Amino acid sequence: MIIAIDGPAGSGKSTIAKQVARMLGFHYLDTGAMYRCVAWYALENGIPLDDEGALASVARDVPVVFSHEPGNPIASGVSFDGHDVTDAIRTPAVDKAVSPVSAVSAVRAALVEQQRRIAAHDDIVMEGRDIGTIVFPDAEVKVFLTASPEERARRRALQNAERGFGDTDPEVILAGLIARDEADSTRAASPLKMADDACELDTTHMSIDEVCDVIVSMANEARA
Ligand code: DC
Repeated sequence: MIIAIDGPAGSGKSTIAKQVARMLGFHYLDTGAMYRCVAWYALENGIPLDDEGALASVARDVPVVFSHEPGNPIASGVSFDGHDVTDAIRTPAVDKAVSPVSAVSAVRAALVEQQRRIAAHDDIVMEGRDIGTIVFPDAEVKVFLTASPEERARRRALQNAERGFGDTDPEVILAGLIARDEADSTRAASPLKMADDACELDTTHMSIDEVCDVIVSMANEARA
């Protein structure tokens, strides 16, 4: 079974997708991390963010490798080009670079192919922007998470403070989120858009457990 969880930055996708995967014993894939790897590589290697051909080669030729603690189907780290980039892909510089990178159709095509391959044999919870629309339009469960921009900025500030890096000023984060929402929703290639048959959940006033319970019930219904 595939559970597709899409939505804008800071809508709680990662926290919720991981918890749902744990509750159901499913695998989990963070597709945003894959776009971030390509953006990180471009910054490290001086590839201009408008060099679509070079970016597409990176996405095609360098596999994203997720690492797992023994017995845990939820990845705890990610490597790219032989480097552990688990933290490096979460910096403000990558936050900024990832929108233009993810707008390149050939980058998307290469990463979508990897995503479909990763999900081929497993029950999986996959989070991103286009899982229910493009990657797996036939996913058994499709959820589109939203929350007010202010709430999303507040959550991201808390998350960054806990991690010990990245912006922690909600005002700065809010401006970045709004810019990224705009770029992700208006790009020509696979814009952020709710699938017609997805269930929209506004999580502004919901707890994580409440959201997860709704999604697990949907999965159980789909299975029945
Ligand atoms: O979920 P995230 O913030 O880590 O995603 C980083 C960027 O990657 C975001 O700006 C949009 C893009 N993205 C995408 O275009 N398609 C996906 N399936 C996942 C992420």
